[in-house]
Amino acid sequence: MKVLVVYYSMYGHVQQMAQSVLAGVELVAGVEPVLRRVREFEDIEKDIPQHEHALAVWNRHKDVPVCTLEDLREAEGIVFGTPTRYGNMTAQMKRLFDSTVKLWLEGVFEGKPAGIFTSTATAHGGQETTPFTMMAPLLHLGMIIVGVPYSTPGMLHTEGRGGTPYGASTLAGSSNELQPPPEDLAIAQALGRRVAEVALKLRG
Ligand SMILES: Cc1cc2nc3c(=O)[nH]c(=O)nc-3n(C[C@H](O)[C@H](O)[C@H](O)COP(=O)(O)O)c2cc1C
Repeated sequence: MKVLVVYYSMYGHVQQMAQSVLAGVELVAGVEPVLRRVREFEDIEKDIPQHEHALAVWNRHKDVPVCTLEDLREAEGIVFGTPTRYGNMTAQMKRLFDSTVKLWLEGVFEGKPAGIFTSTATAHGGQETTPFTMMAPLLHLGMIIVGVPYSTPGMLHTEGRGGTPYGASTLAGSSNELQPPPEDLAIAQALGRRVAEVALKLRG
């Protein structure tokens, strides 16, 4: 049984979170973890070599296979990761969502668990709205939303970092200068594990 972790990342924060989500999926016996990245827009891909930070991230993950409709079809649980853009998912991730019409008509996503993880520059820049706005299309597709309960270690905190009940998250900083702290990565791992466990239970 496959559980897919599919992410978009330009400056590496969501990429790092994806690795932790994947590690969480790997903890569940009987589940095959699958990592995919969301296809980049051609014009942005052409521009990447001119940006040192983005180029370093690109070189780290350009060999991760691009997510296909077949990957989405085969997965029995999916965890979607995207940085925020104006409090919402990236257009790259939305393009993947919008390419699913055929699968939607077939009911491919119905009854499958979905988790969400994100990164924002600032504490109030979309930590909650990004997962929340992503839930609308996921519910249209018939997916079962899996969040992060407050019993998860690290969730009850007041310092400036990520970790929302709507999905795992981290803060990138206004110049993308921060790194996800271990607490945020641990919550990302817990989310991956939870989606995989729910997928197994739902299969029965
Ligand atoms: C067009 C654009 C819009 C953005 N909008 C927001 C925003 O609304 N709130 C915020 O906190 N960060 C915003 N950011 C910053 C990104 O969310 C940040 O670079 C990202 O979380 C880093 O993730 P990554 O390292 O995986 O690319 C925006 C960045 C861009 C390029």
